[in-house]
Amino acid sequence: MSVVVALAAVPREKTGPGLRKLTYFVACTIDGFIGDPEGDATSTYSYVTGEFLEFLTTEYPETVAAPARPVVGIAPDTPNRRFDTVVQGLGSYRIGLDVGVTSPYAHLREYVATRSLTESPDPNVELIADDLVGRIRKLKAEEDGLDVWLCGGSTVAGELIDEIDELIIKTYPQVYGSGMPMFGAGFAPRDFELGAVRAFGNGVLVRTYTRKR
Ligand SMILES: NC(=O)c1ccc[n+]([C@@H]2O[C@H](COP(=O)([O-])OP(=O)(O)OC[C@H]3O[C@@H](n4cnc5c(N)ncnc54)[C@H](OP(=O)(O)O)[C@@H]3O)[C@@H](O)[C@H]2O)c1
Repeated sequence: MSVVVALAAVPREKTGPGLRKLTYFVACTIDGFIGDPEGDATSTYSYVTGEFLEFLTTEYPETVAAPARPVVGIAPDTPNRRFDTVVQGLGSYRIGLDVGVTSPYAHLREYVATRSLTESPDPNVELIADDLVGRIRKLKAEEDGLDVWLCGGSTVAGELIDEIDELIIKTYPQVYGSGMPMFGAGFAPRDFELGAVRAFGNGVLVRTYTRKR
């Protein structure tokens, strides 16, 4: 059984008139790594079962990649709940691309930050080569729609760290010792306010934080 430890308002509304949130919805270890030194996090997959999987597929179905959706029982017409747009760096996008998945989140608008890829492999994927921060600000300023999901990885999250309005951190009960950090950024303290903490029976913790501005 899962436990909601604190449930202060998890704002689903916009952060201001016409402002969509940029949310870094990310999985990490207890010691804050999103993957091994190369970014691989397959050791955590064994925790994506039972009530935690149920939570993910119910609350955040759009964060399940297209090839996995039928496997975990997400119907093709399932509406997106929190996000209608996803932003990834090429390092993250390349994982699917290398096995022929050109649109891993076909149910979302997909943006991929890259300077080396000059032609998009898929009509649903828009490449961002210049002014990444400016493009994200434009997405956030759109009048309508759901929030923007910053998928990762570490490099792009580090570049967008000051644009992030919300963190949703899925923590798996594993310690890596070293690995790929949540943010590839320099040192600077930034404050966040804790919204909700949800603990699952298998030890997974999901924390939601809002950026203090
Ligand atoms: N645990 C999780 O929830 C999670 C989520 C997502 C990803 N990941 C992991 O993260 C790893 C990838 O992270 P990463 O840090 O190596 O790569 P990344 O952040 O996904 O992508 C880095 C690439 O993005 C492009 N880029 C970065 N800044 C840019 C800018 N300002 N403008 C345009 N393009 C820009 C560059 O591509 P070019 O070289 O083409 O210029 C750069 O090489 C993967 O192994 C993945 O498994 C984990």
